Amino acid sequence: MLTEDCALRLQQLNSVCFGYQSRDQSNAMHIRTRIVHFRDTLADAPDAAFEYLSDAILSVEQGTIRRLEAAESAFDKGLDATGVIDMRHLLTLPGFIDSHVHASQQNIIAAFGEQLMDWLNAYTFPEETRFAELDYAEQETERFMEALLAHGTTTALIFCTSFKHSVSLLFEQALKRNMRVIAGKVLMDRNAPQALLDKSHGIADTQALIERYHGKKRLGYAITPRFAGTSTREQLCAAGDLAEQYPDVWIQTHLSENKAEVAWTNGLFTEAKDYLDIYQRAGLLKNERSVFAHGIHLSDDELKRLAASKSSIAFCPSSNLFLGSGLLDLQRLRHFGVQYSIASDVGAGTSLCQFRSMADAYKVCQMTGYTLSAREAYYRTTLGAAKALGLSDYIGNLSPGKEADFVMINPARNTHIANRIEHVNSIDEELFVYMTMGDERLIEQTYIAGVPMYSNPQQLPPKGVLTRS
Ligand code: GUN
Ligand code: ZN
Repeated sequence: MLTEDCALRLQQLNSVCFGYQSRDQSNAMHIRTRIVHFRDTLADAPDAAFEYLSDAILSVEQGTIRRLEAAESAFDKGLDATGVIDMRHLLTLPGFIDSHVHASQQNIIAAFGEQLMDWLNAYTFPEETRFAELDYAEQETERFMEALLAHGTTTALIFCTSFKHSVSLLFEQALKRNMRVIAGKVLMDRNAPQALLDKSHGIADTQALIERYHGKKRLGYAITPRFAGTSTREQLCAAGDLAEQYPDVWIQTHLSENKAEVAWTNGLFTEAKDYLDIYQRAGLLKNERSVFAHGIHLSDDELKRLAASKSSIAFCPSSNLFLGSGLLDLQRLRHFGVQYSIASDVGAGTSLCQFRSMADAYKVCQMTGYTLSAREAYYRTTLGAAKALGLSDYIGNLSPGKEADFVMINPARNTHIANRIEHVNSIDEELFVYMTMGDERLIEQTYIAGVPMYSNPQQLPPKGVLTRS
């Protein structure tokens, strides 16, 4: 048995060797909590990478995750329990990543009755036209950024509008919150209302925004042709030239979402062999920084070329169901080795909440004969999405060295869920309950670079009283 003296010396030695400094020597924050995340692995392997720690210490210093380990081991190594924040009742996950969302479409979520092309004309273009007005754009952009945090989303790849100021406003809001976001000005020089067309200045505006914001703090720029049909060949090629000039900027657009859209688009670009070829000819099919939303109606050859380029598909199940666009066959994407993430696509998608996106993804997959596991669903909204965006060196999990963006889930926020998880037998079952029954009301706190930027303002329901599910 160790004498008290000897144990103390061992504890001191451990704290020196393994880096737990006394509270007055270090500014680290230590949170004791349950953790689910995916470890860094070379392969895209949600099952192998999955890690659940039922009682862990997450240590954060200067916005970065310093350590993650079992609580018992941390205390053995000399961590002083008095400085530890006890959040054992919460489940902590990496912040959600939404790889396809429109900042300008909050006010047209749940717009009734149309499929893609009519929906764009009836609801989307008129709403985006309102962003010409600076005050409206500013108010809506701030509301959008707050909403992301309240829904547990810490990083997003965002479409703004064709107005340059809508992008500056969004980046300024992201800078204020220190968020890692990628966004771009919509390029659109035909087939849309005059007020939204950027004929002479779209490319110059894009270049000016890249110069001003790309790489500033945690910001990234995405060259953003809306979709092929609203750009001329000349504009798409100029966008491709910019992508060549700035090889580390992202590219985002829509691809093969709706059958009528595919037919219309192919008719506009008769020189292209298929929809993807329109982008490929323009130099917009590049690498893991090219993200194509939807990709529901693609041929085998298009899928092969997507895979070869390492570009990814943002699977937007809520949007695809809402607009009746079709059921993405994930098995085909997997067969051809195409990378994908799960995204909201608000405002065609009906919620910013990635629990809701995962629920819809599961149901779409059920309809196509593929069983989407909880592990895979959470992976595609965290580390898998970070990989699809080429950002996994920075975000996506809670490994030491990563930026400390995370969310804390409180099942007690929904009594139906709290009751239901009394009956689960594994962490996988528990995660599946959250994604199937849960929504943003489960989010207790959202942290950006180690700082709590959102805390749930609602009172907790009394125990045992059923609340809305
Ligand atoms: N295709 C072109 N623009 C849009 C848009 O705003 N939303 C969706 N879902 N598809 C599009
Ligand atoms: Zn979209």
